[in-house]
Amino acid sequence: MSRTIIVSNRLPTKVQRTDDDLAFTPSEGGLATGLGSIYRAEGNVWIGWPGLVADDETERQQITTKLQADSMQPVFLNDDEIKGFYEGFSNETLWPTFHYFSQYAVYNEQHWETYVAVNQKFCDAVLEAAGDDDTIWVHDYQLLLLPQMLRKARPHSTIGFFLHIPFPSYELLRALPWRTQLLEGMLGADLIGFHTFGYMRHFLSSVSQLLGYPSQNGRLELKNRTVLIDAFPMGIDYERYANAAASEVAQEHEQNYLAALPNARIILSIDRLDYTKGIAQRLRAFELLLQRYPEWQGRATLIMLVVPSRDQVAQYQELKEEIDELVGRINADYRTITWNPIHYFYRSLPLEELTALYRMAEVALVTPIRDGMNLVSKEFIASKADRSGVLILSERAGAARELSDALLINPSDMNQLAEAMHEALEMPEEEQKMRLANMQALVQHYNVYHWTELFMNRLAYTKIKQMTLA
Ligand code: UDP
Ligand code: G6P
Repeated sequence: MSRTIIVSNRLPTKVQRTDDDLAFTPSEGGLATGLGSIYRAEGNVWIGWPGLVADDETERQQITTKLQADSMQPVFLNDDEIKGFYEGFSNETLWPTFHYFSQYAVYNEQHWETYVAVNQKFCDAVLEAAGDDDTIWVHDYQLLLLPQMLRKARPHSTIGFFLHIPFPSYELLRALPWRTQLLEGMLGADLIGFHTFGYMRHFLSSVSQLLGYPSQNGRLELKNRTVLIDAFPMGIDYERYANAAASEVAQEHEQNYLAALPNARIILSIDRLDYTKGIAQRLRAFELLLQRYPEWQGRATLIMLVVPSRDQVAQYQELKEEIDELVGRINADYRTITWNPIHYFYRSLPLEELTALYRMAEVALVTPIRDGMNLVSKEFIASKADRSGVLILSERAGAARELSDALLINPSDMNQLAEAMHEALEMPEEEQKMRLANMQALVQHYNVYHWTELFMNRLAYTKIKQMTLA
C-alpha cells in the first residue's frame, strides 16, 4: 500500500528537557497545527526535527521510540546545524526575504552550506523511510532544496511541495545570491502549491526571469518533465476548534476569566513573537484608540498572547524588548486601580484555554505586516459558532483573500486600525453575526481535510498526466 511521507523541518510534537525527564507537547505554528489533524491516517509518517539538541545516544533512542509510536520519525540536528541551517539561512535569510523584510536578511556563505547539508540530511532520512510507491510531501522554506535532491536519487518518485509563507516578488528574490539553486530545488517536485494566486504568480515570474522556463496555465515545461503550480489556500480542522470552544472545560475557563474582568470589552491578539505579525504597530494603534476615544478607557481591554519563537535570532530578541517596553509604558500611562488596558502573556497555551480566549473575545485583532495565510484568524471564526464577534484582519495576510467579511485593514495605517477597533466595538450584533456566518460557512467547508484532498488529488493527476505523455 502506498503511504504519504510528510516532511517538514518542525515535527507537530516538540520535545523539551525538563529537570529529570523529557516533555512531549504540541508544536506551535500554522504548519504543525494545521496538518497535525491529518497525518496519522493510513500508516503515514511525518519526518522532521523534534526541536531540541540531543547528542546523547540513549536520549535519542528514547525520543525516537516515543515519536515512532505516534507516526513520527525524528531528524536530529546538532548545534552547528541549528545555527547555520535553522537560525541562520532559514530564519535570517529566507524568512525575512520572503516576508519583504530584506533589510533584516543576512547573506552568509557558511549558513548556505549548512542549509545544503541539512537538506541532504533530510533527503537521506526520507530515502530510508520511503518506499518506491510512497508519495512524498515536502513542506516549507526550510526545505526548498529537498524536492530536487529526492528527484535525483529517485527520478520516478511522486513529490509534492507546499510553501506555507508568501513567495515574494522577483525584485526581492533576486537579492539572494543563491536564488537559482533555490528555484531549481523546488522544481524537483511534481506539484508546487502556494496559499494564494499572488504567490504563485510571483514564483512563475521568477522562474521565467531567472531560469527561462515559460509557463501556461500553471504548467511549467522543464527539459524532461512537467511541473504543475497551483494555489491551495490552507484551511483548519474546523470541528476541532468549534468543539473545543464549546466544551465544558473551555466554558469554565471563560467564566473564570470573565469574572476577573467585569464589564471589560475584550480585544484579543494571538501570534508567535515575530516581526512579520505587526505586534508593536498593533499596540500603538490600541493606544491611539484610547487617546482618540477616551470612552474606551476603563473598558476596552487588550488580551495579548505572544508565543515565544526563534529566541536565539537577534531580530526576535530585539522585538521582544520593544514589546515588553511598549506594553509596560502603555499600561503605566493608562491603567487605573480597577482597569488594566493590556493583559500580556508571553507563553503558549493549551487548546482549551486558547479556544476559551477566542470564545470570550469580542474583537480579534489579526494585523500581520505579511503572513502566508494566518490560521489564527480562521480558528477565531470556528470558535465563534452561534456567537457574535468581529474579526479585524490585515489585507496582507493570505487569509484576507477568503475572509472578505472581516474588517480588512492596512496594518501600517495606525488611524485605520484605531478606527476599525472603534467600529468593531460599536458594531450591531446582527451585523456581527451575519459577517461571522458567511465566514464560518467558508472556513467550515474549505477545511484542512478538503485542502489535503485537493492537493493530493492534484498530485496524483499530475503523475498520471506525466505518464500518459511519456
Ligand atoms: N498557537 C498554539 N499555541 C498558542 C498560541 C497559538 O498552538 O499558545 C497556534 C495557533 O492556534 C495557530 C498557530 O499557532 O494554529 C499559528 O499559526 P498561524 O498560521 O496563525 O501563524 P504562524 O505561527 O504559522 O506564522
Ligand atoms: C511558520 C512556518 C513554519 C514554522 C512555524 C513555527 O508557520 O511556516 O514552517 O514551523 O512558523 O516556527 P519554528 O521556527 O518554531 O518552526
